[in-house]
This record gives sequence, structure tokens and C-alpha cells, in this order.
Amino acid sequence: MPTYANRMSEIKPSPTIALAQKAKELKANGKHIISLAVGEPDAATPEYIKLAAIKAIENNLTKYTPVNGVIELREAITRRYYNQKRLEYSTEQVTVGCGGKQVIFNALFASLNPGDEVLIPTPYWVSYPDMVKLAGGTPRFITCEDNGDGLKPNYQQLEEMINHKTKWLILNYPNNPTGTILSKQDLRKIADILLKHEHVQILSDDIYEHITFDNQITTNILEVEPRLYPRTFIANGVSKAYAMTGWRLGYGLGNKDLIKKINTLQSQTTYHTSSISQYAAIAALTGTDEFIKQHTALLQKKRDLIVNALHNNTKLCCTPPNGSFYAFFCCEKYLGKIKNDVDFATLLLEREGVAVVPGSAFGMPLYFRLSFALNEDTLKDACERIQRFCKNLIGH
Ligand SMILES: Cc1ncc(COP(=O)(O)O)c(C=O)c1O
Repeated sequence: MPTYANRMSEIKPSPTIALAQKAKELKANGKHIISLAVGEPDAATPEYIKLAAIKAIENNLTKYTPVNGVIELREAITRRYYNQKRLEYSTEQVTVGCGGKQVIFNALFASLNPGDEVLIPTPYWVSYPDMVKLAGGTPRFITCEDNGDGLKPNYQQLEEMINHKTKWLILNYPNNPTGTILSKQDLRKIADILLKHEHVQILSDDIYEHITFDNQITTNILEVEPRLYPRTFIANGVSKAYAMTGWRLGYGLGNKDLIKKINTLQSQTTYHTSSISQYAAIAALTGTDEFIKQHTALLQKKRDLIVNALHNNTKLCCTPPNGSFYAFFCCEKYLGKIKNDVDFATLLLEREGVAVVPGSAFGMPLYFRLSFALNEDTLKDACERIQRFCKNLIGH
């Protein structure tokens, strides 16, 4: 019998697995299932990026690369941060890994000791708490409140929760699952708290940075408070912005010493991400951002479609997301007809064949997340099904 590491009992399989399994079974039985549970754009990777990858293969750029990525890619990343945000990094302050996911994991694994705490605003991307636990740390959750402009951290609680064990605060805006963006004023409040606690580092997960609506721009906390530069680690990648989820390319920028440690860790695990993906990413990051503009404009229309259809025509509530391709709906008004968010998602799948992710997966029960990165006809079909489901729940 195989035996397992104790650390495996600390982490749980993705809470969406049971629902995904159910969706599979229903599909196998011939039911037409619409999945709004996906975490990736439906668009294809742009042609010019694919061509760069093909060229890399033809030019035999298919051997090992430096652990932290080829220099041209790291240069493209630093140039981009300077041009877009006036944030200056050297190529030694950049690491490239197999997706933003690995980069974030590496940063946590390279820095956390047992007992170290990581502050995570709730709702959160499903992977943060388990990554923290795998790295030996303790996740601590900050409540978010919605005052009409999306779920944002309770700043007083944030300050109260900081202690000598606090190692990181994770910021992820635009947020998965809510699509909320923090304003400069919000970031100012956070920065003022952090300036009082010099030992707290900031992990800014900016993976949805380019997907914003109504001409809003995402601000990084460093643009508001440059004094946080030495202790801020930015995680980003090409997955969401350029529809490149399968290429597995993410990057991080930060303190040279932390980057060195991350590179050492990566040199003993995956070594580096695919050379071909690296050349594709150079094309993405040095090309025009026409794809991002067009893709985001389409997503904005889809956001409006889904929010109008559900927020206005059911008892589901949602503050329209300012970015990302997710909407986070509250299903609390159906309590009594449903037991909880998992029950809501399970019944919706069984009765109407629509898959969504229950809010408890993100640490926030009584909500559910749906992705609107699907074609419009499918979204309209899904909205009709959800409307019918909600109507049938209350019986009229
Ligand atoms: C908030 C957030 N951060 C990071 C990632 C990692 O993305 P990737 O590993 O594809 O770069 C995701 C993916 O779903 C995400 O939602």
C-alpha cells in the first residue's frame, strides 16, 4: 500500500471536481450541458503569436533555456512594465515559470516558514490557501464588503490582523471571482497600513490586469506608493490577456534576492517553461495590444448581457464586474428553496444543465461564480435556463 506525505492531508482537491464529474455523467447520458465554470477565454490564441511559436520550432529553438527564461523575454517584460506603469526592473528581477500559478507557488514556497501567516481577502482564487499550506504557512482571511462598488477588503480588519507572523498580503484585482478593481484611493488606504508594518510583503497577482471594462485602468499598488517597491512581488502572465492558458507561461517581478531563490527552487523542479511558449510570449508582449482591446470590448458586451439578464430578472444579485471575465452572484434570496450555494449549483446542473462554481470554493458561501467568456448565443441560452431555474424554485 502506498503511504502519503502528511502535507497532503492539509490540502483538498478542487471543490469543483464533484460538480465537474456530475457534468461529465450528465453529458455522457446525452444531456446538453453549458459550462459557465471555465477559467479561460473562449477566444483562440492570436495568429501572430502562434506564428512566432512555429518559427521558434523551425529555427530549432527547442532546447533548454535559462531557468528564469530567455533574456529577450525578460527584456520584453521589463520594457512593458516601464512603458505601461513606469515601474523599473532589471532582467535579474524577473522570473518566468509554467504559468502564473507556478510563479505564485514558487514565491510562497521560497519564502514561507512554519507559522508564517499570509493574509488573503475573501473571496479568493481557489489556489491561494492550499498553496500557502503546502509551503508550510497559515492562510488568514480578510472579510470583504460591498458598498456598491464590488467586494473590497475591510481595511480596519486588515490592519488588526497584521502581527509579527504576517509575511504576505495577497492582492488580486481585477479579482477572481468577483471582477472587482481597487481604486487608487483603496490602494492608498492599504499602502498607508502597510507602511506602518515594514515586515509585510505584498504579492500582487495582476493576471487579469488587462481585462477591464468601461475604460477603467488597473493600478498596481506600486504606482500609488513606490516605497513598497522593495517588498512587492508582482505575478502576471500571458494566459488570460492573450488567450494562452495552455501555453503555461507566467512571470514574476520583484526583489532580486527573492527572484534568485525562486529560480533556485525552479531549477530543481520544472527547470523552466517550454522554450516555444517563451518565444510565443515575446511576440505577445512586444506586439500591438489590438487583440486585448477587441477581446475586452467583446467581454464587456457579454458582461452586460449576463448581468442584465440575471440581476434584473431574477432574485440573484451581482455588482457588475469591472474586469476579468467572471461575475459573482449572490443566491441568498433563494435560501429555503435551496440549502446553500453548493445545493444551488447542483440543482441548476441537474435541472437545467448549467454548470457554475459555488461560492464556497472561493471562501464565500451563498454566492456562485460564472464565467462569461463564451459565445453570445450560448450565454443567452444559459441565461434563459438560469432564469427558468430561479422561477421554478419559487414556483411562479
Ligand atoms: C487569480 C489567478 N491568478 C493566477 C492564475 C494562474 O493562471 P496561469 O497559471 O494560467 O498563468 C489564475 C488562473 O485561473 C487566476 O485566476
